[in-house]
Amino acid sequence: MLLSTKHMLHQAQKKGYAVPAFNIHNLETALAVVQGAEAMQSPVILAATPGTLSFNGRPYITAIIKELAQQSKVPVTFHLDHHESFEDIRPSVDIGCRSVMIDASHDPFEENVRKVQEVVHYVQALGGTVEAELGRLGGMEEHISVKENEATLTDPLSAKEFVERTSIDSLAVAIGTAHGLYKAEPKLDFERLKAIRALVEVPLVLHGASGVPDQAIIRAVELGICKVNIATELKIPFTEALRDYLKAHPQESDPRKYFLPAKNAIQQVVQEKILLCGSQGKA
Ligand code: 13P
Ligand code: ZN
Ligand code: NA
Repeated sequence: MLLSTKHMLHQAQKKGYAVPAFNIHNLETALAVVQGAEAMQSPVILAATPGTLSFNGRPYITAIIKELAQQSKVPVTFHLDHHESFEDIRPSVDIGCRSVMIDASHDPFEENVRKVQEVVHYVQALGGTVEAELGRLGGMEEHISVKENEATLTDPLSAKEFVERTSIDSLAVAIGTAHGLYKAEPKLDFERLKAIRALVEVPLVLHGASGVPDQAIIRAVELGICKVNIATELKIPFTEALRDYLKAHPQESDPRKYFLPAKNAIQQVVQEKILLCGSQGKA
């Protein structure tokens, strides 16, 4: 079933769990995520970056996800992840996508506000959901690479002003996570998260969840995170399972065979992350 992300996140906020958002890359990965969510009776968000849209072709991947969402036994939404401009967002919204992240976190505050307002104006009029980010995560997400010393944590008072001025539906916060895996165990700034939560009413989003210890995810959800973004921790097992299978079966040339263990590997991680988010049985 196709639900609005806003509705999903508000349910999560009311009941104290988080909806997991998994980055998908094609039919195989999207299907594995939905099957994992169905096995756990969990709502789920399928996230696609601009790179995923251009790799598959925007209309094709959009049609696939829409159909998956409609046929699925659990709530599924299709979300544009880390889109940096209105020009990039608009064509997807015009063909039916109703959940977007406008990421202008690299811009100065006023410019970030202006870009977000433009997207909010367009998307919310159609009943869509808009996420934006204040502060800046370190690490590497596709073409966006942020060095550790360039990362900045979200300032709670600025977050309050940002949400009020933009009317966004959810806020991505920088509290010490980074995109990709970590060299050393990440230390999340829970006091900062509490302070943001005290000042900001909209659901909060945790990016960069791959590589974060389980206990830290659970704590972040307890403190008000309503959406948890996971990309790298799906990509790695998918690729490893595929590599192992092809090593063990060097003559195999049937994609319908060698993609199976890779899909299963994704589904397993999806189910584990759903338990951390506490979204099992919430479909
Ligand atoms: P990870 O790759 O660290 O899981 O980050 C995912 C993310 O934030 C997608 O927006
Ligand atoms: Zn992210
Ligand atoms: Na990460």
